[in-house]
Amino acid sequence: MTTVAMAADARHEAADRARTGIHIDNVTHSYGARASGRGVVALNRICLDIADGEFHALLGPSGCGKSTLLYLIGGFLPIQEGAIVTTNGPVTQPGPDRAIVFQNFALFPWKTVKQNVLYGLRKQGLKGEDAEERARDYINLVHLSGFEDAYPSQLSGGMQQRAAIARTLAVDPKTLLMDEPFGALDAQTRRVMQEELRAIWGRSRKTVVFVTHDVQEAVFLADRISIMSSRPGRIEHVIDVSLPRDRGEDTLEDREFIHLSEQIWRLVREQAVAATRGR
Ligand SMILES: Nc1ncnc2c1ncn2[C@@H]1O[C@H](COP(=O)(O)OP(=O)(O)OP(=O)(O)O)[C@@H](O)[C@H]1O
Ligand SMILES: [Mg+2]
Repeated sequence: MTTVAMAADARHEAADRARTGIHIDNVTHSYGARASGRGVVALNRICLDIADGEFHALLGPSGCGKSTLLYLIGGFLPIQEGAIVTTNGPVTQPGPDRAIVFQNFALFPWKTVKQNVLYGLRKQGLKGEDAEERARDYINLVHLSGFEDAYPSQLSGGMQQRAAIARTLAVDPKTLLMDEPFGALDAQTRRVMQEELRAIWGRSRKTVVFVTHDVQEAVFLADRISIMSSRPGRIEHVIDVSLPRDRGEDTLEDREFIHLSEQIWRLVREQAVAATRGR
């Protein structure tokens, strides 16, 4: 290839990168009145590029701003400083391309499991038997068959979380934003859901931003992991997970998996210790 052709290729690649994925550029976010000195700076100059189709995990101490960053990408909070640009342009509001599983489930309490799942589908214009069938498939996927007509208050925390996951997956968004989605699940269900999510991601090539406190979960699921500092949150480390694409039960015994988990655990611990010292 000639030098000119290579330069043109590099330009195209750069343009493609700019058009796809999620680009977080110098994002700072405060709650409350910062000028009065009583405000809380939650995020401090966050810069991060997430590629199209990447599974990206966010780890960091409690209160470091993980949920805040996810809400900003989702367009659920106004961007105060910096910019977030996705394939569809700068983020200014929520959009059907970005769906979120909230940390506290956020199901409609007055709707049944099925009605919760149907809500997003109907908003997308899917109707009748098509919508019903899609809802059934996703309720099945999260092992809630038989509970279609139950209200959230009649379900355990783990079941509510699975219903929220079904509702989000059913609308098939390009980008999935997940805030500790498996936090309330028992260890076995959690493992099953992790494998399901990884398989869904493998089939659909969605972009996933996944917040968790669980280092092993992050290593099992993600292509790359960002470790955030204590508040005000910054990105301290970005780590590539060099494990095979196909991951399952065996992955947990893989030497690379164990080594990486230990290495990341040490980095997360450093940030957690710094947080308790209130630096
Ligand atoms: N609505 C709000 N008003 C004021 N402060 C807030 C608000 N939401 C979050 N904060 C503060 O901003 C900081 C970041 O909060 P955020 O919920 O993003 O952290 P997190 O990393 O998701 O924490 P956790 O791991 O406990 O879920 C915290 O110190 C929190 O107290
Ligand atoms: Mg949070």
